[in-house]
Amino acid sequence: MAMSEPRLHPAEVLRFYAENGVDIALAETAPNRLAEPATVAETSRSEAPKPFGAPPAATRPQAPPRNFTPPAAPEAAIRDAGQLAANAKTLDELRAALESFEGCSLKATAMRTVFADGNPEARIMFVGEAPGAEEDREGLPFVGRSGKLLDRMIGAIGLDRTSAYIANIIPWRPPGNRTPTPQESAICLPFIRRQVKLADPDILVCVGGPSATTLLELKEGITRTRGRWFEYDTGTRKIKAIALFHPAYLLRSPAHKRLAWQDLLAIRKALSN
Ligand code: URA
Repeated sequence: MAMSEPRLHPAEVLRFYAENGVDIALAETAPNRLAEPATVAETSRSEAPKPFGAPPAATRPQAPPRNFTPPAAPEAAIRDAGQLAANAKTLDELRAALESFEGCSLKATAMRTVFADGNPEARIMFVGEAPGAEEDREGLPFVGRSGKLLDRMIGAIGLDRTSAYIANIIPWRPPGNRTPTPQESAICLPFIRRQVKLADPDILVCVGGPSATTLLELKEGITRTRGRWFEYDTGTRKIKAIALFHPAYLLRSPAHKRLAWQDLLAIRKALSN
């Protein structure tokens, strides 16, 4: 006699997905965002989810949905981002510029623009990769589980959000917390570079490998680059920069907390100079 498949309650299936980071439904098939598209607009069109049971693409009308503003092609988006960022003379203007910018498709799926938290006058600035679900809900960087660990890490060297400024390379949450594509990072880079320039910290801490490779243009991975001092040119002056293990990584690999502690001590020493 054939055994019947055990059936899961739909709520259990959703809980399983949410616990594994899949908390937003966008398409039935995963788009390959690493493939080099001709333009972002073309990619989103060709990868758009097909309604279940829909006729073949050739027979379907191709009208774009109403109120849909196609994102600019990457080169145009990077150029626009550079101009908008350069025109911002203050951090408030930069935040407004980001909020008006439509060149990054991540903005369409995010709830909030996550600009910064902490004290923009601080001597030290931490830059992570991109907001997660909690950050997207609150509109603030590093407020979820890894943010709580980051607070404890900086607390251990006498810092908190009144004495540190915190931002991300990407200000919009990638759907399902996926890794931002190189194009998305390139589009957002002029904004974070301008943010560092306007905040003008003495020390820049890249939180996690992607932040270090993007801002410091490092080719090696975080296990090789963490704890080493680099020079970061803000455009006005050269400041000290260091890469730190991402707290999300330390939550998964607590054995590396010892190395992170060494790096935090190096940061404390640099701040006391
Ligand atoms: N991870 C990041 O890199 N940034 C956040 O704001 C939260 C998690």
